[in-house]
Amino acid sequence: MKPEIILALDVDSLKKSRYFINLLFPKIKIFKVGIQLFTACGPEIIKIIHKKGAEVLFDLKFFDIPNTVANAVRWAVQFNVKMLTLHIAGGEEMLKAAVSSAKSQARRLNKRRPLLIGVTVLTSKEANFSRVLKMAKIGLNSGLDGVVCSAREAVLLSKEIKKKFIIVTPGIRPQNFAINDQKRTATVSEAVKAGSNYLVVGRPILEAKDPLLITKRIIGDSNV
Ligand code: C5P
Repeated sequence: MKPEIILALDVDSLKKSRYFINLLFPKIKIFKVGIQLFTACGPEIIKIIHKKGAEVLFDLKFFDIPNTVANAVRWAVQFNVKMLTLHIAGGEEMLKAAVSSAKSQARRLNKRRPLLIGVTVLTSKEANFSRVLKMAKIGLNSGLDGVVCSAREAVLLSKEIKKKFIIVTPGIRPQNFAINDQKRTATVSEAVKAGSNYLVVGRPILEAKDPLLITKRIIGDSNV
């Protein structure tokens, strides 16, 4: 199946966020809210995305003591986000606390449980596959629904880990686009071949002269 594109809303105002959401929805149906935007604008951005009919990847990459992470996850359930991220490096105890908090809060509020996605190793860092595999196994054994990894590792992880899990891949670069601070990049077609389920794209779209045209190219719109 073709992966779904998630736009990383790495901007710092609601005005710029609205611009990209209005321009790109419904070509893009999931928007990533990360530390930059959430710190600048707070939870209002989540309401704006939901009002449009789109979904949220809540990418604050939680990494703290288990109790604090469990409490933060409870809020993410209130926000009704589709997915949220945590650092697997936070350890098994932290991850399990997050999973159980998400489940119990979703039951209590009668809301859906966000998918919990673990960051293996940031794609801005070099990493060997055995480290990514080790992190992915810790995450999935702790009850996470999926992992974030580069396209390079996605294909190998699917071979090594037999159970079904979600793969989210950032660091996507169209051919000839600057890789910026990313190290483990891939083009869209490489990520498609690698079997990633979701591709997180930021600067290639945000910095484009024509963001809609680039988006159409990335999603393989045959009319472009
Ligand atoms: O601008 P660019 O396409 O590099 O943006 C990639 C996005 O993916 C950023 O918002 C970044 O926070 C996110 N991300 C990442 N590496 C991870 C997890 C998320 O680059 N491991």
